Amino acid sequence: MFKSTAFLFASLRAASCAQPEAQQPIAAPLRELPWAQLNFLHTTDIHGWWGGHLQEASFSADWGDYVSFAKHMRDKADAEGVDLLVVDTGDRVEGNAIYDSSKPRGKFTYEIAKEQHIDLISSGNHELYKADTAEGEYYHTVRDFQGSYLASNLDIYDPRTGYLEPLAPRYKKFTTKNQGIRVLAFGFIFDFTGNANNTVVTRVEDTVNEDWFKEALKDDDLDLIVVFGHVDIRSPEYAILFSTIRAAHNDLPIQFFGGHSHIRDYKIFDDKSVALESGRYMETLGFMSIDGLSTGGKDESAATPQKPVVTFSRRYIDNNLFSLRHHSGKDEKTFPTQYGLNVSKAIGDARDSLDLTKKYGCAPRDLWISRRPYPHKESILSWIEEEVLPDSIAESQRIKSGGKALVIQNTGAIRFDVFKGAFTKDTKFLVSPFTSPLRLIKDVPYKAASQVIKLLNNGGPILLEMMEANAFLQPPEVTAARFRPDLLSFAQSFESQSGGGGGGGGQSPMLAEVPALIPGYTTHDDAGIDGDDTVHSKIAFYNVPNCIQSAVGFDSNNKDEEPQTVDLMYNGFIQKWILMALQYIGQKYTSDDTEVYAQGESFTDIMTGWVEKHWASEGECPK
Ligand SMILES: *[C@@H]1O[C@H](CO)[C@@H](O)[C@H](O)[C@H]1NC(C)=O
Ligand SMILES: *[C@@H]1O[C@H](CO)[C@@H](O)[C@H](O)[C@H]1NC(C)=O
Repeated sequence: MFKSTAFLFASLRAASCAQPEAQQPIAAPLRELPWAQLNFLHTTDIHGWWGGHLQEASFSADWGDYVSFAKHMRDKADAEGVDLLVVDTGDRVEGNAIYDSSKPRGKFTYEIAKEQHIDLISSGNHELYKADTAEGEYYHTVRDFQGSYLASNLDIYDPRTGYLEPLAPRYKKFTTKNQGIRVLAFGFIFDFTGNANNTVVTRVEDTVNEDWFKEALKDDDLDLIVVFGHVDIRSPEYAILFSTIRAAHNDLPIQFFGGHSHIRDYKIFDDKSVALESGRYMETLGFMSIDGLSTGGKDESAATPQKPVVTFSRRYIDNNLFSLRHHSGKDEKTFPTQYGLNVSKAIGDARDSLDLTKKYGCAPRDLWISRRPYPHKESILSWIEEEVLPDSIAESQRIKSGGKALVIQNTGAIRFDVFKGAFTKDTKFLVSPFTSPLRLIKDVPYKAASQVIKLLNNGGPILLEMMEANAFLQPPEVTAARFRPDLLSFAQSFESQSGGGGGGGGQSPMLAEVPALIPGYTTHDDAGIDGDDTVHSKIAFYNVPNCIQSAVGFDSNNKDEEPQTVDLMYNGFIQKWILMALQYIGQKYTSDDTEVYAQGESFTDIMTGWVEKHWASEGECPK
């Protein structure tokens, strides 16, 4: 439903907001924000995209613009006597060159992040993979957001004392400034097991039985419980939290905020409890509002015997200046605050000092992770499988002297699309921020090696193990479909490709043609299809397999060329699953049988080398 629709088609020239190289926002029909008694702005899975999306107009505002926006929204709340809380649910690190190419890696990220006033903040899994990243969280983010950072099920070995301690307080109780709403808040992470050994994640099912948790819930002077965290809103973890809290407070409103699966989503638990998930990569600012809350803390006498109906509303804001100016009621001149401009400048300075516009070559076409089927000429996976890996690995000594190899890459290691035009240092880290070196096992019998990808991609024992361990090799957006089969309306089975039978799913999506609209998010959640602030035309979303594979030094489709043995090569991140698959086929290899490829060259290095060689070009890239 459009409460009111704004069509502004004036040319919008950002004087000094956003990053200077960012695209201008494009005017589009907007749905208004449903302001209420208590309002929230929510970000999640920022992954270092403080600078916004320079090549995409819909998401081209940066963290400095968000600082200005939140200031205007807070002022507006104050003027109307309502409340606004700002929430972030983790995975702020890894995934963007500002984080990944700086030395040390958090050098700019912590300084930039802390410039936003955040009321409720928690850790994601990416803060915990490496011990030094978790320590960065401990030394910087937890301190910068003291009083806001919560860690309900996350402990750290204090780097100074060696004692295991909560990373931050388990919960907090507070009363909102203007309305006097009494809130109890928890900050969770899902049952993550891939963390370095300096942190400990307690399973949610165990946490809800801990004494402190039960004690915290024993409070009748509450108007609202907020559970925020790095947790998929449709996960078993949040289901447990909902049922436990609901059992203790059968009538109290409960608001959840989640993340991790990189999608926009909204779940209705019951008529007094809902959950919001606000996408990824600074594309989305989630707006959530609640009306009809009791405000017992502030004015007991005014409480009427008849309880008002509690209503919840949500909106997913596209993070660009057109949307942000509109929703804050500001224009080009009045939108930027001095503070926000300073933050944008700090981001620009960081980008300059890291030389992120350094060009390796020109991409001749767009390459998509899930907007094209796989295989496809415009699939980034096909590009890697058919060009990057075969061309690059063919240069190695073992292949040149007649060796053969199978190279397996998990698709989750590919994080972002490539756009036609300059392929820069920025692009390199967006596509592949992870630094795991390529590894190999020499001379594996081909009959066995060629079975590995089938086990990794098809249903079966290895896949069950992966699910058990919460280890998904696909991109998070695709993994999200495990709780949301409808998401993949254009689902495609990979079983047929890797020999397991199956089939299913067509390859040509039926798109509603609405030519006037810009393609973008068209979210369908528990409340319907009116959640996105910007009205867009639909974008196709295709399934991708867990892993792709290249044959190097031979043609895998030609039976006559079938080798006796091959080097089995893979991204080090998935070694555990490769060894498990081999074991399942009856080939006993251990990590002692593996070695790094080319002194530890990573996929990121290989891809960049390929671009320099094949896409090199002087001067401006052709449009
Ligand atoms: C974590 O592992 C490292 C290296 O294996 C070891 O030195 C350290 O003692 C371990 N720390 C904890 C808290 O177990
Ligand atoms: C912005 O940066 C300038 C120059 O460093 C500084 O003088 C000013 O105090 C800053 N303003 C705010 C609001 O932070």
